[in-house]
Amino acid sequence: MEEMFGLRNRSAVVTGGLGQIGMAISLALEEAGASVVIIDCDEEAWNAELAGLSADGRKFSFFNADVSNAELVPEVVQSADDRTDGFDIWVNCAYPRTEDWGNRPENDRPISWRRNVDMQMTATCLYADRAAQHMAAREGGSVVNIASIYGVVSPNFLVYEGTDMISPAAYSAIKGGIISHTKFIAMYYGRSGVRANAVWPGGVAANQPSSFVERYNDQTALGRMAEAEELGPAVVFLASEAASYITGATLMVDGGWTAN
Ligand SMILES: NC(=O)c1ccc[n+]([C@@H]2O[C@H](COP(=O)([O-])OP(=O)(O)OC[C@H]3O[C@@H](n4cnc5c(N)ncnc54)[C@H](O)[C@@H]3O)[C@@H](O)[C@H]2O)c1
Repeated sequence: MEEMFGLRNRSAVVTGGLGQIGMAISLALEEAGASVVIIDCDEEAWNAELAGLSADGRKFSFFNADVSNAELVPEVVQSADDRTDGFDIWVNCAYPRTEDWGNRPENDRPISWRRNVDMQMTATCLYADRAAQHMAAREGGSVVNIASIYGVVSPNFLVYEGTDMISPAAYSAIKGGIISHTKFIAMYYGRSGVRANAVWPGGVAANQPSSFVERYNDQTALGRMAEAEELGPAVVFLASEAASYITGATLMVDGGWTAN
């Protein structure tokens, strides 16, 4: 079992690996035995984390790239391939968004909608596809896309009342699209030994206003928001041999939000 759930001698690439969830996933993959290449555009965050990430024997490296640009996908995936000597695991966890992200639908501008769909959904799908092509050529590998509860169910707008927070309409479309495309990748590359799955996290605690947190907590079975660290093990599992017969699946890590 230790072998099956472990990732010894595997190499993993995590886009957005310096973010709240991406970092937790990167740490979990590395702790499970993988060497991890973090692709992110936040070099400052990398420098801030460097001491911890390069401590004795740790197997992290960093690659500064803009993963929102679909034109760069082949080049970035090839560079990741060269750096890892052939990656086994690709995790899409970057979260690019426009400056006006977070509007209510009445204030949404079509240009922002399209731009966010391009940066978040199109880019994620093209990365999943290109990474799967590389792994298919090696006859094995695992793609894990980070989706969201909002790709499956609508936001409950009551939890946002009294705050200036909102989950944008485009977010639901984007995450729903990513979940569907994950299934496409699973079917298209399955016979080449590549599995593709999505994790759908519930809201992660990040100092949100207390009125929001209270209402949010009430909607979950466990009565609380997620901690970012709770996402890592789900990704490790899907990437490992323990999930060898799991593909095209979505794994909810939402404290029971969608059980209701
Ligand atoms: N935080 C939550 O509550 C939550 C809940 C459900 C799903 N998610 C999903 O999890 C994923 C990660 O979210 P997060 O909360 O960790 O976000 P975050 O903002 O903390 O991290 C995102 C990371 O992506 C990087 N990034 C942004 N644009 C980039 C670009 N163009 N090129 C390369 N890197 C780029 C950032 O530098 C950052 O390190 C997203 O897909 C998000 O939709 C988050």
